[in-house]
Amino acid sequence: MRTALTGAGVIGSVHAVILQKRGELCAVCDIDEKKLEKYASLPVYTDYVRMLDEVKPDAVHICTPHYLHAQMICEALSRGVHTLCEKPLCISLDEIEKIKRAAEKSEANFGVCLQNRYNGENLYIKEYLKDKKIVSVTGTVAWHRDGAYYASAPWRGKQSTEGGGVLINQALHTLDLVLWLTGAPETVTASVSNLTLQNAIEVEDSAVIIGKGDPGFVFFATNGSPADMPVELTVKTDDEIIKVTPGSVVINGEAIRFREKYEALGKKCYGSGHEALINDFYDCISNGRKFAIGAEEAARSVKVILAAYASGGKPVRLD
Ligand SMILES: NC(=O)c1ccc[n+]([C@@H]2O[C@H](COP(=O)([O-])OP(=O)(O)OC[C@H]3O[C@@H](n4cnc5c(N)ncnc54)[C@H](O)[C@@H]3O)[C@@H](O)[C@H]2O)c1
Repeated sequence: MRTALTGAGVIGSVHAVILQKRGELCAVCDIDEKKLEKYASLPVYTDYVRMLDEVKPDAVHICTPHYLHAQMICEALSRGVHTLCEKPLCISLDEIEKIKRAAEKSEANFGVCLQNRYNGENLYIKEYLKDKKIVSVTGTVAWHRDGAYYASAPWRGKQSTEGGGVLINQALHTLDLVLWLTGAPETVTASVSNLTLQNAIEVEDSAVIIGKGDPGFVFFATNGSPADMPVELTVKTDDEIIKVTPGSVVINGEAIRFREKYEALGKKCYGSGHEALINDFYDCISNGRKFAIGAEEAARSVKVILAAYASGGKPVRLD
C-alpha cells in the first residue's frame, strides 16, 4: 500500500504516525507549508489534486476541515483511490448524496474515521446488546472548548467551514455510538444554542436532541463544561441499566472486564480506536471486504445533526 495524507494538522499527525508505523505513508499535502516540514523526506504538496495525479497513491487519508471532505472524497474515489476520511462525513444533505454516488461508482473502498466504535467498551456493549431489546439510550458529552481553541484554526466555529459546532464536531462520535445502538430515529426534536461562546463562534456550543423511534434516545452535548468530562452512554433494556464510559462498562452496578487492544494516540478523548480502525480499513482492502463505516453508515449521524439544526424545537421527520 502507498498511502497519501491530506491535512497535516492535529489529527493528520495521528494518522501519519500510524501510517509510518505500517510503512505506508508515501506523500503528504497541506496548504500550510510549515506543517509539511516534518515530512521533508517524502514528496510534499500544497495542492491535493496534483498530489493524487502525480503520486497516484493506492489510498488517501483526508484529515482536512469539514467543508473540504466531500470534494476531496469525490476526487479520490473518482480516481479509484481507497479513501479514509476523518469525521464528519460532510456538512450538508447535497454532499451526502454526492459522496454516496461517488462511492457506489468507485471500485475503491471508502471509510469514515468513527474510531470510537473500536474502543473496547463500545465493542463489548455492541456485542452484548446484539440479541437484547433496548428501551432507551442516553448520550452525554460535556467538554471544554474555549475561545483559544476556536482561534487555533481559521475554519473552527464558522458555519461555512465547520458546518456547525459541538454537535458536528466534538459530540458526533458519541451521537454515532447512540445511533449505532438505536438505528436512525423517525423524528428528531432539538434545542440548539450558544450559551458560553457568543463572542467567539457563530455556531452552537450546546444542544439537546430527542430522537423518537424504537428505541428512542436522548442526547445532551455542550462545549461549555468547566472541564472535559468522560463521555457517557446509558442504555436501558427491560431489566438492565448499562453505563458506559471510556474504559468502563457497568451493568446493573457490576463492573465488567473487557480487553483494550490498542494504545490511545493523540489526545486521551480520541480513545484508542484510530489504530484499530485504520488496521481494519486496510484489512478490508486486502481481503476484498467492504469497510463497515461507509457513506450510508457515516451519513446517519450527519442527518440527525442537520435535522437538529433545522428543528427549532419542533419535530423533524427523517427519511
Ligand atoms: N476522529 C477524531 O477523534 C478527530 C479528532 C480531531 C479532529 N478530527 C477531524 O479531523 C479533521 C481535521 O481536524 P484537526 O483538528 O486536525 O484540524 P487542524 O486545523 O489541526 O488540521 C487541518 C489541516 O488541514 C489543512 N488544510 C486546510 N485546507 C487544506 C487544503 N485545501 N488542502 C490540504 N490541507 C488543507 C490545514 O492547513 C491544517 O493543517 C476534522 O474533520 C476534524 O473533525 C477527528
